[in-house]
Amino acid sequence: MTPDETHAAAGDAVRAIRTEGLTRRFGDLVAVDRLDLEVPRGCFFGFLGPNGAGKSTTIAMLTGLLRPSAGRAEILGRDLAREPLAVKRSLGVVPEQLALFDRLTGPEYLAFVARMYGVPRREVRTRAAELLALMDLDGAPRKLIVDYSHGMKKKIALAAALIHRPEVLFLDEPFEGIDAVASREIKDLMLQLVARGVTIFLTSHVLEIVERLCTDVAIIARGRLVASGPMDEIRRGGGLEEAFLDLVGRPETPGAGLSWLG
Ligand SMILES: Nc1ncnc2c1ncn2[C@@H]1O[C@H](COP(=O)(O)OP(=O)(O)OP(=O)(O)O)[C@@H](O)[C@H]1O
Ligand SMILES: [Mg+2]
Repeated sequence: MTPDETHAAAGDAVRAIRTEGLTRRFGDLVAVDRLDLEVPRGCFFGFLGPNGAGKSTTIAMLTGLLRPSAGRAEILGRDLAREPLAVKRSLGVVPEQLALFDRLTGPEYLAFVARMYGVPRREVRTRAAELLALMDLDGAPRKLIVDYSHGMKKKIALAAALIHRPEVLFLDEPFEGIDAVASREIKDLMLQLVARGVTIFLTSHVLEIVERLCTDVAIIARGRLVASGPMDEIRRGGGLEEAFLDLVGRPETPGAGLSWLG
């Protein structure tokens, strides 16, 4: 190995996610525009941006659900386009639009996902039972997912994303629709996962949660990266909300309201 190659390999060991010029177009719209992102391994990463900024599109590309129009992405040093299966094995995802097999019960679904990922049979029951208890979904084991409430669906999706012990976890708005008790449980769980070396890539519009949990953040607006770095650097001594508004733009006429409202 040349010194350069050694250096590159060392870089891969500390980077969970790296993108180069990652781009996605939908017709004329450039939803994600030449994104260069570096996410250190083991960090709790908050990916922020206004509605329609390109966050979910980025997550869909990083998890192999959507093909980039240009550019490339690496997860844990592996190129996503070249080694899609190996990459997918190492990651877990709760996408914005949940895609659940909803004619199964919670325990059936978790067992199914676990087997798909090759979790040893004897482990499946224990892991599923613990996850269902943690998510407070163990009270109605016979209920089909189609009959779950919104928050319950979200929680079973999170349980399914964790069952194969992923090294990188993508969570698109995980707290949306989740009650305060479960939200606390999930935050504690996320911190435990990060303490064990899991990298979490999270989007949330709840900036107080992001500020409390995340070690690093990136902000995108209209598909372009506008800031990226450790939380303290982005906050620059103030609060995250102020930094966010400074970076993405404040409402043009604050308090103008609706003309017809009187
Ligand atoms: N399948 C699609 N076809 C056409 N346009 C799309 C498609 N998916 C996303 N877009 C567009 O791409 C842009 C980025 O959307 P995306 O869902 O990534 O935003 P987001 O940052 O996740 O927003 P939000 O915070 O509202 O979830 C939007 O303008 C959206 O309308
Ligand atoms: Mg989104």
